[in-house]
Amino acid sequence: MNEPIDILLFGGRGDLTQRKLIPSLFQLHKKGSLAPDSRIIGLSRSGISSEEYCEILFNALEEYAPKCVGTEEQWSNFTQRVSFLTLDGNSRDDFIKLSQILEEQQSRHRLFYLATQPSLYVHICRNLAENNLITGDSRVILEKPIGQDLKTAQEINRQVSTWFSEEQTYRIDHYLGKETVQNLLILRFANSMFESQWNNHYIDHIQITIAEKIGVGTRGSFFEQVGTMRDMVQNHLLQLLCIIAMEPPYSSSPDAIRDEKLKVLKALKPIKDEALQKNVVRGQYGQSANETEKLKAYRNEEDVPTDSNMETFVALKAEVDNWRWSGVPFYLRTGKRMATGLCEIVVEYKKIPHSIFSSFNSSSIPNKLVIRLQPDESIKLRICEKRMGPGMNIQPTELNLNPDQNANDPPPTAYERLLHDAINANATLFMRRDELEAAWQWVDPIIEDWNQNNRIPEMYPAGSWGPAASTLLLAKDGRLWNEMS
Ligand code: BG6
Repeated sequence: MNEPIDILLFGGRGDLTQRKLIPSLFQLHKKGSLAPDSRIIGLSRSGISSEEYCEILFNALEEYAPKCVGTEEQWSNFTQRVSFLTLDGNSRDDFIKLSQILEEQQSRHRLFYLATQPSLYVHICRNLAENNLITGDSRVILEKPIGQDLKTAQEINRQVSTWFSEEQTYRIDHYLGKETVQNLLILRFANSMFESQWNNHYIDHIQITIAEKIGVGTRGSFFEQVGTMRDMVQNHLLQLLCIIAMEPPYSSSPDAIRDEKLKVLKALKPIKDEALQKNVVRGQYGQSANETEKLKAYRNEEDVPTDSNMETFVALKAEVDNWRWSGVPFYLRTGKRMATGLCEIVVEYKKIPHSIFSSFNSSSIPNKLVIRLQPDESIKLRICEKRMGPGMNIQPTELNLNPDQNANDPPPTAYERLLHDAINANATLFMRRDELEAAWQWVDPIIEDWNQNNRIPEMYPAGSWGPAASTLLLAKDGRLWNEMS
C-alpha cells in the first residue's frame, strides 16, 4: 500500500476533472490503490459546498464514465476523501485557507494537478510557493498544451522550475498512458524478431493516425487559441512517433526511455522552404456532405468566428534523419469530425523483391503491422497465406497478436494509469522538459509559416477522411492511407 497523499485538483469543476480525473481516481479507490487516508481536494472559483461538489461529480460519472459507477457504498466511501474549496487564484486569503487544510496533515506528499488554462500555471505555482505549500516531496502535474510555442513553453518551464525541480514536475500526455502504447514497448523490446527488422532495410513507411469523429463541441474558444497542431500534433502524435522510432533504451528507467525519445525528436528533419507546403496539409471541417447526418461546419460551432482559419486537421510527412530511419517517411495525420474515430499506427514493410507465384502478384500485398490504440485495442500482422485447396492461390490474412483480454478486468484507462504513476512518483510516462521543448522547436516553423504566409486551411466535409491534399500527400509517393489500401 502506498503512502497517504493529498491530491489537489486545480480546475476542480472543469471538464477534464469531471470526465477523466475523478472517474480515474474513483477506479484507483475501488482497486485499493489509494491509501486509506488520502484526500482529494477540488479547487475552483465556484462557491459550492463539498456535498454539492460530490453530487456534481457523481452526475458527471454517470454521464461520462458509466462503466466506472460502482456500488452506492463504494461511492459514499470515496466521497469521504473528497472535499471542495473555493479558490480564486488571485486571493491570498483563499491560499491561506488551503494551507490550513493542508497543514492538518503536514507530513504528507502533495500532488498538485493543474487542470486549468496553461496561462495560469505560473500564477498558481507562485501562489503555492509564496504560501509555503510546496514541500520537498510535492509533485505538480501540468496538462498539455504547455505554452503556445517554444518561447512560451520555455518561459513556463523556467518559472515552474524555480519552485518545482524537474523530478517533481510531471508533464502529462495521456496517449502515453494507453494500454497499447505500453504493449508496443513490450512488442519492440521483449521480442528479437521485430527489433531485427525495425529499420529502413525492411520498413517502407509508417503511418500514425488519430482520427476523431467528434467536432470541437463546446470547446470552440479553447480551440480557436490552439488548433490541431498544438492540441494533437505537438504532443500526442510526436510522442507516438518517438515510441515507434526510438532506439532500445538501456533500461526501463524514466530517464533511459526519455533520453531515447529526445534523440528521435532531435533527429526529426526540420520542415522548411518548399517542404512547408509540399509535406504539410492544414484542413478545417466544413458542413457534412451527407444529407442524412447533418453535421455543422467548424465555423458554425459555438464560440468560433464565422471567418475562422483555425485548423481542425493536420497531415504531414516527417523524416527521422538517422541511421535506422533514413529514407522511411512517417506520415502523421489527425483531425476532428473524421469519418470514424480511431487511433492506429501502421508499419508497412517493403514489398518482396520478386514474386515466384505467377498466379498471383503477392508483391502487391506487403506485410503490415497494425497497432490499434482505439477504439478496440489490438495488434495485427498482415501476412500472405495459401488459400486452402488445389492450386497455389495466395490470400492476405491477419495474425492476431492481441494480448489476452479479460473483459471482467479491463486494463486501466490512460488517466488512471498516469495518476497511479504520479501518485507513486514514477515519471516514465511523463514528458521531460527537454522533450517538450524539442517538440515545440520542430513544430514552431510550421505554425509560423501558416501565420506569416496566411495559409488558409483546405476545407473537408465533416464525416470524411480529411482534405484531398491529405490523400495526395501519400499518392505523390505512390502510397495510400491504410483505410484506402
Ligand atoms: C486531448 C485533446 O488531449 O485529446 C482533445 O485536447 C482530444 O482535443 C483528446 O479530443 C483525444 O483523446 P482521446 O483519448 O479521446 O483520443
